[in-house]
Amino acid sequence: MTERISTLYTAAEIAVRVAALGVQIARDFEGQRIVLVCVLKGSFVFTADLARAIDGNVRCEFLGVQSYGEGTESSGVVQITQDLTRSVENEHVILVEDIVDTGLTIAHLLELFRTRRPASVKVCALLHKPARTRVEVPIDYLGFTIDDKFVVGYGLDFNQRYRNLPFIGVVEQD
Ligand code: IMP
Repeated sequence: MTERISTLYTAAEIAVRVAALGVQIARDFEGQRIVLVCVLKGSFVFTADLARAIDGNVRCEFLGVQSYGEGTESSGVVQITQDLTRSVENEHVILVEDIVDTGLTIAHLLELFRTRRPASVKVCALLHKPARTRVEVPIDYLGFTIDDKFVVGYGLDFNQRYRNLPFIGVVEQD
């Protein structure tokens, strides 16, 4: 089976949106410290760009999460594969997600973070697919709302491939 990838958002379009999110976050947290929690693997590219777009006091943490098996359907099971290295108690946390699809992952992570006593928890997602919602979750900062298509690139994968594409594309299967 071969896949064709058609461009949905170019690298330049993504850069403009990420810069705007960075400005918004810096304004909202002016004078405060922020912990950006990069939800691995999918948001490693987004987090790297977002962190540099925020003019403020930022610490980055990494959380390994697996919510999919092989393929494109959510298993509904969220497994923590790598935990934070430092406490987020009394910190302003922003969970950085590549995409909110069913909402199961973020719902689970919001529950988890409540037990870690941060000062606040916000969600920043690059993409949202509202057509697939199974649990409503708050998205405080959002890049783009997209249709029910499977997307890759800019950190997002299809069977662990395509994360390196500098743009976001839709997988078309022949
Ligand atoms: P959710 O728990 O269903 O919201 O799924 C969240 C995770 O599923 C994301 O962090 C992605 O890793 C993955 N995912 C959902 N939709 C896509 C997609 O279109 N392309 C690549 N990964 C996706």
